[in-house]
Amino acid sequence: MKQFDNVMIFNHPLINHKIAILRDKRTSMKEFRELIEEITTLMTFECLKEGVPTVDVEVETPLEVCTQRMVKDNAIAVVPILRAGLGMVNGVHVLFPTARVGHIGMYRDEETLEPKEYYCKLPEGIEDKLVLVLDPMLATGGSACDAITSLKKRGCKNIKFMAIIGAPEGVSKVAQTHPDVMVYVSTLDRCLNENGYILPGLGDAGDRLLGTK
Ligand code: PRP
Ligand code: URA
Repeated sequence: MKQFDNVMIFNHPLINHKIAILRDKRTSMKEFRELIEEITTLMTFECLKEGVPTVDVEVETPLEVCTQRMVKDNAIAVVPILRAGLGMVNGVHVLFPTARVGHIGMYRDEETLEPKEYYCKLPEGIEDKLVLVLDPMLATGGSACDAITSLKKRGCKNIKFMAIIGAPEGVSKVAQTHPDVMVYVSTLDRCLNENGYILPGLGDAGDRLLGTK
């Protein structure tokens, strides 16, 4: 895959360890959910290193008054792409519990693999926040691209996208379509199969997370 300035692939030993368990078809729904959250937390730590609106505040320690940088009030929103992105929300909240939550509902047409938006509800003032778009799977990239376009149409300017497993096709598509959006992916897989599933992947993330199959 071509290198992109706006893509970060983690390839971190601790995350890779958790992804190995996540991929395993014998992993239970409970463990799958916990792993998605844990990996998201580890990714969020890095993802929030830059681009977070901050403010300097005065703090009185027991010894003196100092100036300390903090995250601005009400400055971060997470937007999971339904359904599987829901599993990542708590992973961000563990680190930043006041992040507001919006939802974008997208499903892929099973024949064409084209994404269709069926729901969108966003927090007030989202256009001024750092928006973290969450989806564990970045396959063709259609859902991520359309979700980001939809957020831009609603005024969002500071957007990052986080996926746990990416296919080269999807990562390239989002990076090229939205060069202003930083794309964070835990691990880059080999390719897509004829049904648009990531190989080796982990199967259908929504079904494994929610027990629908
Ligand atoms: C999955 C996944 C992504 C999308 C990725 O959702 O959670 O949203 O597919 O594929 P793409 O990159 O080719 O668009 P799906 O459409 O299966 O919906 P679900 O989460 O409701 O199961
Ligand atoms: N969506 C999934 O849940 N899994 C894939 O492999 C591709 C899209």
